[in-house]
Amino acid sequence: MSESADLDLRYLWHPFTQMREWTAPLAIVEGEGAVLRDEEGREYLDGNSSIWTNLHGHRRPEIDRAIKDQLGRIAHSSFLGLTNDVAPRLARELIEWLGFEGKVFFSDDGSTAVEAGLKMIHQARMQRGETERRVFVSLAQGYHGDTIGAMSAGHSALFHRAYKSLLFETREVMSPFCYRCPYNRAKPERGQDARLTRECNWECAALLDEALDSLGDSASAFVLEPRVQGAGAMAMHPGGYLQRAAASCRERGVWLMLDEVLTGFGRTGGMFAFQKEDVLPDVIALAKGLSGGYLPLAATVASLEIFDAFLGDFAELKTFFHGHSYSGNALGCAASLASLGLFKTEHTIPHIQAKAQTLAGLAARFWDHPNVGDVRLEGMVCAVEIVRDFDTRESFPYAARTGHRICEAARKRGLLTRPIGDVLLLMPPYCATDRQLEQMTEALWEALCEALI
Ligand SMILES: Cc1ncc(COP(=O)(O)O)c(C=O)c1O
Repeated sequence: MSESADLDLRYLWHPFTQMREWTAPLAIVEGEGAVLRDEEGREYLDGNSSIWTNLHGHRRPEIDRAIKDQLGRIAHSSFLGLTNDVAPRLARELIEWLGFEGKVFFSDDGSTAVEAGLKMIHQARMQRGETERRVFVSLAQGYHGDTIGAMSAGHSALFHRAYKSLLFETREVMSPFCYRCPYNRAKPERGQDARLTRECNWECAALLDEALDSLGDSASAFVLEPRVQGAGAMAMHPGGYLQRAAASCRERGVWLMLDEVLTGFGRTGGMFAFQKEDVLPDVIALAKGLSGGYLPLAATVASLEIFDAFLGDFAELKTFFHGHSYSGNALGCAASLASLGLFKTEHTIPHIQAKAQTLAGLAARFWDHPNVGDVRLEGMVCAVEIVRDFDTRESFPYAARTGHRICEAARKRGLLTRPIGDVLLLMPPYCATDRQLEQMTEALWEALCEALI
């Protein structure tokens, strides 16, 4: 066993990991493009972009250089009472890409971006005298991170089981995820996109209206991951739901908070998922791809209406009393500026759209396996749902760990990816070549056939 593995086993505790079975850690020590390398020099394809963070590949010279240049000046200085010369430029870039007027609040991770957004909304409501508006509405199977507020807005029976008594109450509404939606009686055929089997899932939108109406003036904001609910097993929504939901919120004075931690920065084929539906959020949470997948950096962008609620005399105590030591971190902001620069110089969005078509073409083969219940695609997100029985869509028992076993088999074939339950994921960095996409799908296919003959 290598020294890293040995030290890891002795001293570390890993996220979302049953440590009792953590016996043979794989240490990644190098990377380039879509390839990761372990201590023995073995190569793996980064099939989930290092937990959905990496965009342009590892060791992109432009991003590496930006970080080194910044390091040659300063790594970090406080953002409390001071600014620096990179965060303001990044904030301007973000506002331009987002296309709406707002203010950018920096933090470190997806959870902190969401947490800050929830607190901003709540405090703004109180300071505007809308003290009844306290209830957040959010989607079933939504996942927004692991801090208390983010968990409260999320609805994961598995992840949140132990913390129920610590969470504040939010109103859960049905997700417009066609595949599992009880209203979707027209069962998709093999090979068919579940979203296309219905004109649109208006029942879910109507249920949101009902929830908002029943809450009346106590509804504060509707929080959701637009179009793709990531940790909710890549639940993909039919086009039009977001627009309809946004209109429902607007009509009722309810704010729209979008969590684009996963969907942002090209992942779903457009720069941001919300832009596909021409809506304007009041708050948006960004992280993961914000720094190109290099450094922990997150941003919460709030509308001027919300920002203005915090302005006042010092003694009025309207300040947003929230912040993090590494807010506006110069290295992260420099990486992010370089990553956003690549979107322009390399025309990343049209490139992703072409890549996504290649990925979709390759992924079609998964339908040939009898245990594949659904193949979901949006941009550079490909999710393959494994079922015990196609006709009933019955799942394998949780303890069988089917998805995990398939991903273990894929690892032996040089592909690293992590399932969500029995949903297999391919979310490659955008730099992945067509050949690498082929290798990824081939490895996952062979792994699936090995695990489920
Ligand atoms: C949609 C979404 N929101 C929030 C988070 C939490 O982000 P982080 O893990 O950076 O705290 C995640 C993480 O997977 C996510 O997918």
